[in-house]
Amino acid sequence: MYSLPWIRLGIVFLGCLHFKSAIASDELARAQIALNTLQTWYNTTSGLWDTCGWWNGANCMTVIADMAQVDSSVGDLATGVFQNTLAQAPVYNPNPGPENRTQARVTDGVNAVNWLDSAYDDDGWWALAWVAAYDVTKDSTYLTLAQGIFANLAKVWGTRCGNGGIYWSTTSSYVNAITNELFLSVAAHLANRASSDVEKENYVQWAQKQWTWFSTQDFFGPDYTINDGLLGNCQNNKQTVWSYNQGVILGGLVELNRAAPNQTYLDWANRIAQAAINKLADANSVIHDVCEPNCAPDGTQFKGIFIRNLKSLQMASPNAVYQRVITSCADSIWTNDRNPDNELGVNWAGPVASVDASTHSSALDALVAAIGV
Ligand SMILES: *[C@@H]1O[C@H](CO)[C@@H](O)[C@H](O)[C@H]1NC(C)=O
Ligand SMILES: *[C@@H]1O[C@H](CO)[C@@H](O)[C@H](O)[C@H]1NC(C)=O
Ligand SMILES: *[C@@H]1O[C@H](CO)[C@@H](O)[C@H](O)[C@H]1NC(C)=O
Repeated sequence: MYSLPWIRLGIVFLGCLHFKSAIASDELARAQIALNTLQTWYNTTSGLWDTCGWWNGANCMTVIADMAQVDSSVGDLATGVFQNTLAQAPVYNPNPGPENRTQARVTDGVNAVNWLDSAYDDDGWWALAWVAAYDVTKDSTYLTLAQGIFANLAKVWGTRCGNGGIYWSTTSSYVNAITNELFLSVAAHLANRASSDVEKENYVQWAQKQWTWFSTQDFFGPDYTINDGLLGNCQNNKQTVWSYNQGVILGGLVELNRAAPNQTYLDWANRIAQAAINKLADANSVIHDVCEPNCAPDGTQFKGIFIRNLKSLQMASPNAVYQRVITSCADSIWTNDRNPDNELGVNWAGPVASVDASTHSSALDALVAAIGV
């Protein structure tokens, strides 16, 4: 069959264009697919994600907000989730705070107290999730909510080890890393979104106070990895080095450096990130937690949190190693840790085993981080 040469040329040319854009949007395309899969677990009645818990829900919402930042086609989906979760989820708060236990059962998502569930780290996750929702929508309702949650946490900052820090929960005297990293990160995020210099300075001071305290406690191992927490006598409890404990602090220090620039914050963040990668990455630069493949429901969420925050550090203080880790994790998840329904598992090196909204949303964090890294 005969065709005019310039038509053939045109077809070749269009084919090349198509091929090129397919390569460029590969990371985006797979994150879009995985986002749609995540939403098969979204329960509009509860405003939460079936098969995972309350605090995991905050992380599901955060990854959706992060996705909306890099893909405007996700804006409507994200906005719908924020609105519905605000309205519905407080009723399903598993353990509303003692102060207003009955009130928390009413649908009043704008009231910060309805998001408190007695575990201070859970409160911190929701504060960060609402900051992320605010960043996408610029709806001050969400920022006010995050500020309200922080105000409740600030009330319990006290005289733990070294005269500072907060406990894990209302009923525990465990001084753990994650709760205190979250406190710092929320304060630093709020500093950068304050509406006045006075308000900003207040959050900066909280974040700096928390960092001064945190960095002088016994959370760090000799290699700069961060342990799970402190013993009753305030010594390092030498428990597991979980990936999320190496992550939240990175985003916190990046935000603090943005609010009150000081190179020591980024130096610390880089030291911690490199220590974490040395400890947790395999030979293919894929991050692991020791619980794999049978992580308890909390542990299934950790690695995505690390990668999300490593991306934040990569944006502020680029390093080829961080880029390689983020890309390698995302590529490995997509190639080795995905089932035929595009559900993503907990062992990012594969093979994919049991999946739920927690393993999936955690892996989605890596897919989103890899976009434009
Ligand atoms: C959605 O959440 C509600 C409230 O927790 C629950 O009763 C219902 O079973 C959930 N739906 C599914 C499909 O799990
Ligand atoms: C708790 O409930 C009481 C009584 O309705 C109310 O006055 C108070 O403001 C509530 N506390 C918070 C933190 O919302
Ligand atoms: C930067 O932070 C370090 C450690 O927290 C502190 O000693 C130093 O005074 C700070 N520098 C400035 C310019 O604020």
